[in-house]
Amino acid sequence: MRHLLGIEGLRRADIEALLDRAEAHLRGGPDASHVLRGKVVANLFFEDSTRTRTSFEMAAHALGAEVLNWTMAGSSVSKGETLLDTVRNIEATGPVALVIRHRAAGAPHLVARNVGCAVINAGDGTHEHPSQGLLDAFTLRRRWGNLDGRTVVIVGDILHSRVARSNLHCLTALGAKVVLCGPPTLLPPGLESLGAEVSTRLDEVLPRADAVMCLRLQLERQGENFFPSVREFARLYGLNAARAERLKPEALVMHPGPINRGVELAPAVADGSRSVILEQVAHGVAVRRAILEEVCR
Ligand code: CP
Repeated sequence: MRHLLGIEGLRRADIEALLDRAEAHLRGGPDASHVLRGKVVANLFFEDSTRTRTSFEMAAHALGAEVLNWTMAGSSVSKGETLLDTVRNIEATGPVALVIRHRAAGAPHLVARNVGCAVINAGDGTHEHPSQGLLDAFTLRRRWGNLDGRTVVIVGDILHSRVARSNLHCLTALGAKVVLCGPPTLLPPGLESLGAEVSTRLDEVLPRADAVMCLRLQLERQGENFFPSVREFARLYGLNAARAERLKPEALVMHPGPINRGVELAPAVADGSRSVILEQVAHGVAVRRAILEEVCR
């Protein structure tokens, strides 16, 4: 794998190989602190991040790399420098990989066609967030052994969610059934053709879920009103304590973060015994180590 730009198109064997490698890291497998010794990994975040940026940084350090943390704030983007000029100038300083987050779908793909080093998509607009999809699948695989025949309900702002797209590709490739649920205005057309079941009725699909993944309502990407009010959205699609009672006893609750507490997910559920949200974050470091190892070989 030269780059990691998305999950779409990856084979089950490719995904499982990455997850196996992450598992070995998590179990304290062979010392990998020399793998990227003397190399630099550049984090290029044109959008804000807490989990993804820090865990790519920790993953790179664990492999012995130095990390260049570039953020748009304070950069020459404010003077009109283009995306390609920015990345070509960063590439000229010699990194072995660029980890890119950008508001425009396809930006990492454009960069990958124009640089010589490895490119990892850390989230591009509403398109994909492949490392998140992998760490979510990894979290479920560790809990269940494998995903075959499991049902994962992904609920909320599907339209604007790159996490939903990467998870749909990743979880279905690993044998799970994915149900995408939300208000009709936040469900783009064509999801069934990607292998998803689609529903607008959360209360009907929740009892079938082995895991439910709540998505953040991305108000910053919504240029118009997609539903009457946030309160209405929370009432119909928020996972509150009463609704969580409808889940199977062993069902898991996930969220990629950051959480709008009290909107898509009630604090008592986010912090409750079903929640694997902080496991997802912890697993992000091992999964991103595996990704960096793979693309920097
Ligand atoms: N899940 C996720 O991408 O979180 P950050 O935006 O904090 O990186």
